[in-house]
Amino acid sequence: MSDFTHPIVGWLIAIVTILSILGCFWLIFANNIKKVEGEIESTGHVWDEDLEEFDNPLPRWWYYMFIFTLVFGLIYLALYPGLGAYKGLFGWTQIGQYEAESAEYDAKYSDLYAGYAATAIPELAKNTKAMKSGERIYASYCTVCHGSDARGSIGFPNLTDDDWLWGGTPEQIKASIMNGRTANMPARGGLPLTDDEVENVTDYVMSLAGRDVDQTASDLGKQVFGKICLACHLPTGTGNQALGAANLTDSSWLYGSSRSAILETIKNGRTGVMPAHGEFLGEDKVHLLSAYVYSLSH
Ligand code: HEC
Ligand code: HEC
Repeated sequence: MSDFTHPIVGWLIAIVTILSILGCFWLIFANNIKKVEGEIESTGHVWDEDLEEFDNPLPRWWYYMFIFTLVFGLIYLALYPGLGAYKGLFGWTQIGQYEAESAEYDAKYSDLYAGYAATAIPELAKNTKAMKSGERIYASYCTVCHGSDARGSIGFPNLTDDDWLWGGTPEQIKASIMNGRTANMPARGGLPLTDDEVENVTDYVMSLAGRDVDQTASDLGKQVFGKICLACHLPTGTGNQALGAANLTDSSWLYGSSRSAILETIKNGRTGVMPAHGEFLGEDKVHLLSAYVYSLSH
């Protein structure tokens, strides 16, 4: 209710609500015929030939129940927000309730998470109950990018295989989630390569992964690779986890396996970003999540 831009809106709601309740009171008292003298008259309405409507007074239980609901409404409106900007005697708010519940939740589960945090990741990954909570945290914070099955998609790595950009040891996984990761694959390897050189090195990269390529182009591309690309991807092309430089010799491609996707990466570069979650989730939850991610591939 505090969102109203003009205070008059709050007042209007309060006045209309109170008038409606008073109107209901009037209606119920005005129709409260206690005793009926003599015979009850028919209203003259007849259905199905002989079903007549009589002008009977309200049954007592009905009448008292009506009064009860009206009194209940008044007490409710006195205690809780409902009358425009009036906050209610209890001072209840949705945000207040949410905060109280989260505090209660944290108090209840922080011990549990702290217990998990004291367990080594490979061991924790075998704890079915812990992995159930890990799965829930994963579903809330990670599915948007890595998918509900953690198999990722173009630009978002698969977390269920044993191919790691930044490393798959418990410590490396935890570091990826805690501090985030920013990959830097410079366009054309950071040097002014010609378009031909980019085409050739693309063939060479594909040959590293055992694909069929134009041998002459690949041989020329090998020289380019030996000048720049090895600095990050190593002379063997197997990559460097310290830099998040992808392994180019396997069949798993972060940005797609087609020649055009590989060419696009080399031509324009890529900067995949994994956001840091440490501050936001707290180390204990990240520890549990790391064990969950570890369990997916082990
Ligand atoms: C400064 C380090 C660096 C240099 C130099 C570099 N790369 Fe990369 N490369 C990376 C990183 C880091 C990634 C991962 C990018 C990401 O995750 O967003 C990458 C990704 C790639 C990919 C995509 C792999 C996939 O799975 O989709 C290809 C292809 C590639 N590099 C080829 C090359 C070639 C060819 C060269 C030389 C012309 C080169 N890189 C030079 C760091 C480098
Ligand atoms: C906004 C999208 C986004 C969200 C949300 C996100 N990630 Fe990532 N994550 C990425 C990207 C992109 C990379 C790859 C970065 C790169 O190119 O090197 C990555 C990389 C990783 C890696 C390293 C993978 C490897 O091969 O080394 C792990 C582990 C990981 N994420 C786990 C998680 C977990 C657990 C969560 C949930 C807390 C999460 N991520 C949430 C985008 C995201």
